Amino acid sequence: MLPKQVLISLMVAAGVVSASDVHQLKEDSFDDFIAKNPLVLAEFYAPWCGHCKALAPEYETAATELKAKGISLVKVDCTEESGLCQKHGVEGYPTLKVFKGTTDNPSAYSGQRKADAIVSYMVKQSLPAVSVLTKDTLEEFKTADQVVVVAYFKADDKKSNETFAAVAEPLRDNYLFGATSDPALAEAAGVTAPGVVVYRKFDEPVVVYDGAFEADAITAFAKTSAVPLIGEVGPETYSGYMSAGLPLAYIFVEGADDKAKYSDGLKELAKKHKGKINFATIDAVAFGAHAQNLNLEQKWPAFAIQETVKNTKFPFDQTKELTIESITSFVEDFAAGKIEPSIKSEPKPEKQEGPVHVVVAHNYNEIVLDEEKDVLVEFYAHWCGHCKALAPKYEELGKLYFDNPEFAKKVVIAKVDATLNDVPDEIQGFPTIKLFPAGKKSTPIDYQGGRTVEDFVKFIKENGSHHVDASVEKKDEPAASAETLGEAAPAATDAAEETASKSAEKKESSTSTEAAAETHDEL
Ligand SMILES: *[C@@H]1O[C@H](CO)[C@@H](O)[C@H](O)[C@H]1NC(C)=O
Ligand SMILES: *[C@@H]1O[C@H](CO)[C@@H](O)[C@H](O)[C@H]1NC(C)=O
Repeated sequence: MLPKQVLISLMVAAGVVSASDVHQLKEDSFDDFIAKNPLVLAEFYAPWCGHCKALAPEYETAATELKAKGISLVKVDCTEESGLCQKHGVEGYPTLKVFKGTTDNPSAYSGQRKADAIVSYMVKQSLPAVSVLTKDTLEEFKTADQVVVVAYFKADDKKSNETFAAVAEPLRDNYLFGATSDPALAEAAGVTAPGVVVYRKFDEPVVVYDGAFEADAITAFAKTSAVPLIGEVGPETYSGYMSAGLPLAYIFVEGADDKAKYSDGLKELAKKHKGKINFATIDAVAFGAHAQNLNLEQKWPAFAIQETVKNTKFPFDQTKELTIESITSFVEDFAAGKIEPSIKSEPKPEKQEGPVHVVVAHNYNEIVLDEEKDVLVEFYAHWCGHCKALAPKYEELGKLYFDNPEFAKKVVIAKVDATLNDVPDEIQGFPTIKLFPAGKKSTPIDYQGGRTVEDFVKFIKENGSHHVDASVEKKDEPAASAETLGEAAPAATDAAEETASKSAEKKESSTSTEAAAETHDEL
């Protein structure tokens, strides 16, 4: 065997080990680095976090590419620099923030966690919101990103210039914006100034705007043009579809042939409903588990529409054949409001037996929205480890109210498996715990505290409408109190750790499809 030293120098010689272009920063170097570099992307991470590990090679690649453009990528290990991370409000891992020469007001990085996406996002950050274009730069600019929005207006047309700047500013992270006042370029583009053209890398590559030169209308046009007629749901696109405010029609396909067959066959239908329903294929092999979130079985091909605002689901009957014709009539019926959403529910328990009430979709209103009671609900998933760890304490908590007839009239401790039941609440991670106070059911309060019975009791006392105090009296025998003290410290640390990793889990599962692969549930 070679001594380690030799091995390392061999690897260096072979170029295997190269210095990283990502700067590792600490409390004492962070502020100074930010002040000296005009544009910095910072990753706050923990070494144990799976999504941080997945990001690492992408982050390295992006750092190397961006170095040449004077954009720096840095990372901070929050298990070592907890003060620094706390100062920057880090709640989950990884947290990515963009700094522009000062530690004040960084913006959250909202791009995808892939090297090319990071590069594209940071380059956009480095450019003015609207790049001024000339005949030498226009051609290259048109293909510089997935979606490029170019305005053509006259040199003295201040108003259009300002209007376009107002469109670009809030969308600058999403698309590339450019403008030119060269009349020859407008003519070549077939545009009468002032006008707008969207250049894109899918469907028809050039789309000319034909409305009035007004900010809202141009914004709407840019957003609609940015969505392909039939796109694809994946880690890169999922959050965009969810925030588009339109129903999303999913076509689960297995393999390229099916994908082509349905994408081509449904183009006309998608065109007809453009701006009202988004259509996208989804790779059933990679993301098939997402079908269950749409109340579909994992049988392909499959089709479902999700109303993304109300989070209701309209699965296509899987006993029927899925053809272009059958999808078309399903979509037309949906658009006409003729289809009822499907509600996934476990069977309603006949009787609540344990101290923790079992909520399912069909008894949700009856239990959770009971105006007479303060109801604490744990939204859990059967596969979630943190939920399992919480279960005995949650039982114990339930007993405090359930076993006391006076309290039981006022407080209910409940749980619902949110993967097996449709619930109206938006749940981004497990467990999510909310209190629905009596008489104030429309404003539930998120539970953010520690995971001890005492913490829960205090929370219910303070935030419940009935202010029920179920705290157990402390015995003050000296031996017992010494023991309590002895246990209290590690227990508190435990709870703190769980909370930190819970928010990490929450953050991770809410942002990407990779989480789906890991959890087999959430896309
Ligand atoms: C728009 O206005 C800004 C600020 O006055 C100016 O720098 C820019 O050149 C104008 N854009 C075009 C395309 O003329
Ligand atoms: C009551 O709810 C508020 C708002 O969520 C929270 O900040 C506070 O800590 C809660 N009280 C207790 C004792 O947990």
